[in-house]
Amino acid sequence: MKKTKDTQSFQLDVTEKYLLFPINDKKDKNTITILDNQGSLFLTFNARITDKPPKYYIKIDVHTLIDTSIEIEISTSKPLLPFAEFIKQAESYEHPDIELHRPTYHYSSPEGWINDPVGLFYNKGIYHLYYQHNPYGMKWGNMSWGHATSENLIDWTTQPLALVPNELGAIYSGSIVIDSQNCAGFGENAIIALYTAAADTQTQCLAYSTDDGYTFTNYEHNPILINEDKTDFRDPKVFWHTETNKWIMSLATSPTISFYSSTDLKEWTLISEFGSGIGSHKGVWECPDLFKLPYGKTHRWVLLVSVNAGGPNKGSATQYFIGNFDGTTFTAETLPYPLWLDYGKDCYAGTTWHNNPKDKPLYIAWMSNWQYANILPTKTFKNAMTLPRTLDIGNNGEHMIVKSYPIRELKKKRERIEEFPTQLVDKAVDIEYLLDDNQGVYELILDFDIVDLNTSKIRVSLQNTVGESLQYTFNLNKGKLVIDRSTTGEHSFSKKFCKHKITAPLQIEKKYKLKLYIDKCSAELFINKGKTAMTNLIFPTEPYNTLNIIVENGRIDITKFRIYSFHEEE
Ligand code: FRU
Repeated sequence: MKKTKDTQSFQLDVTEKYLLFPINDKKDKNTITILDNQGSLFLTFNARITDKPPKYYIKIDVHTLIDTSIEIEISTSKPLLPFAEFIKQAESYEHPDIELHRPTYHYSSPEGWINDPVGLFYNKGIYHLYYQHNPYGMKWGNMSWGHATSENLIDWTTQPLALVPNELGAIYSGSIVIDSQNCAGFGENAIIALYTAAADTQTQCLAYSTDDGYTFTNYEHNPILINEDKTDFRDPKVFWHTETNKWIMSLATSPTISFYSSTDLKEWTLISEFGSGIGSHKGVWECPDLFKLPYGKTHRWVLLVSVNAGGPNKGSATQYFIGNFDGTTFTAETLPYPLWLDYGKDCYAGTTWHNNPKDKPLYIAWMSNWQYANILPTKTFKNAMTLPRTLDIGNNGEHMIVKSYPIRELKKKRERIEEFPTQLVDKAVDIEYLLDDNQGVYELILDFDIVDLNTSKIRVSLQNTVGESLQYTFNLNKGKLVIDRSTTGEHSFSKKFCKHKITAPLQIEKKYKLKLYIDKCSAELFINKGKTAMTNLIFPTEPYNTLNIIVENGRIDITKFRIYSFHEEE
């Protein structure tokens, strides 16, 4: 074994399909480089190797190197351990299935870290979902594009990695378009990915796929868009603007969003900038998305801007602007900005599908918050996506808003129905037992009318047998919906998880229709067809299986009350 002060390298004869590296995320980061028997680079990545019993192993597929001798180089800032002793070889490896909180009908990667959804597109009956991914650890790092596909937006198949770090940097967020007119010259209907390469500076790069988005080739003249002075210059979201026959790119250039246009997807011209003096600037602007939304017989343009931090409930959140885009400039209508798409703590960096076959934009977001995403109490995967949602324009009684509600396809997941009596409630109602074999995977539907206008509060509370509960308090006097996550289950991993109560403005109405989706570690509430959306992570130690409703100073009429348990798999 060769050893220098901070790097060691050793030879290894490859005999099995996988190399297993023992990891503990509390350790320091090491850079690992694998060279093949010709001395050429096979893979380089960062991981937190341990010499103690590991929290988990990461597996590196080396099947193409079997029966050859490779060199592994490991660098570390700490005194060197005899790493060679800890690396194993195996024909297969699965993480032990120990995850109490792995979602079932939300996408999470089989292993490793995920953040933003990126490059969403629909083609030939398949929805493609790419995502920011660390395949070699449970913390942010080694930024690559993971990939999953689905025919129904709910049952996802994980595909091989689509893009991995290269000499221009790590692969940050971006988007994909189908180049049906061959503007870029990679062929008719080539799948074109525009992404940010992040190294000392951030630049925009292009990669193309001629096999429907499964494998990509980086464009030889990357980067295609550089900047000299902006630190934040990332997350290109591209669409075809029919009216001007041009591609438009929205780019996060905090504190603004810059718009660029192009005819060939390679050369981009700055056409305008939006954002000074409007909306929330409490954090960095990221992940823009500009799209047209049908509205009556006309339409509006909506610009999504994720902002980290400074959301309505602290940490990361997504704001939006409604207005017009004339091919050059986005002009926001006068509305009381900031307006937030989801008032929960865990809906960030969301974006819409390109070439979406539906009549309204189709959206999905990262179901986490930068405040604690790296330290959530899951072991073999970190973070998941929200439910896919349909976006629409609505009104909250005072002004125009963007609504978001769960996709219709979810109905297909329903398995068993439990129907509870409709009834007038003037004090409380208890449902002592919700579901047989409750796995914490269900949809709750609760519709009620406010019959007595003096009603001041309604508390809907789900509970388990160990004293944990998820309570939604509808404060009708204050026009507020409130959740306190300190009672929901495990929260010791982060003070920020439940330091503050989570609140959303609540429109005072005569009728409320609630849809609540529970999937192990998530609670997504949609009120009155998405006028209010609230996505929050929860970590109950057992599923909530009782429900209690308390009405203060008034009376409500429950008109629909049911629970659907969901299939585990198709
Ligand atoms: C948003 C973000 C993006 C960036 C990516 C890096 O969550 O910070 O701006 O491209 O994550 O993983």
